[in-house]
Amino acid sequence: MKIAAVIGSNRKNSYNLKLAEYVQKTFKDRLDVEIVRVNDLPFYNEDIELTPDQSVLDFRGKIAGADAVLWVTPEYNYSIPGVLKNALDWLSRGDRVMIGKPSWIMGASMGLLGTVRAQEHLRDILFSPGVSSVLLPGNEVYVGLVHEKIDKDGNLHHEPTIEFLNVVVNNFINWHGKLHKN
Ligand code: FNR
Repeated sequence: MKIAAVIGSNRKNSYNLKLAEYVQKTFKDRLDVEIVRVNDLPFYNEDIELTPDQSVLDFRGKIAGADAVLWVTPEYNYSIPGVLKNALDWLSRGDRVMIGKPSWIMGASMGLLGTVRAQEHLRDILFSPGVSSVLLPGNEVYVGLVHEKIDKDGNLHHEPTIEFLNVVVNNFINWHGKLHKN
């Protein structure tokens, strides 16, 4: 199954990027995860909507070609970072490639609550008419105090998180399978 893992952080050493890379590496036998960064997208502007940059077309192409999208995002000031909102705004226009596409969410932050508030906002956005994703219920992955769980080389060494990710990935694969059976 092809998964586009969209990283909500534009930081080079992003913990969320490292979390996505952990999922990519650990579950490579069952999921084909492509890491998708949104750093180079221009600001969405209705004036250029009909003539978007190649970066926008490439981004939409990666999303369109995936069986599902994994959003892996930090929390900025109790919401999702602007770069991720910008990416979602681009996806909500044109071919609207997210409509009906399954997705799931993970988030890591240095705070205790591990992106709870950001994910609430993200879920709302994913249900907006132009995005209309089909979201994996439950399975809320909040990796708080991430700096204590992922080392500088990107290794996740927090056993409860490792076990929970295993459960969530299994749940996601089962849920996705059932979606396509009906
Ligand atoms: C943060 N951070 C943060 N953390 C949190 O738990 N809740 C929050 O509201 C915020 N707000 C916030 C705003 C801004 C502008 C920055 C730069 C940071 C801290 C954040 O969790 C931390 O920087 C993460 O490491 C960011 O994720 P990446 O870039 O490592 O993936």
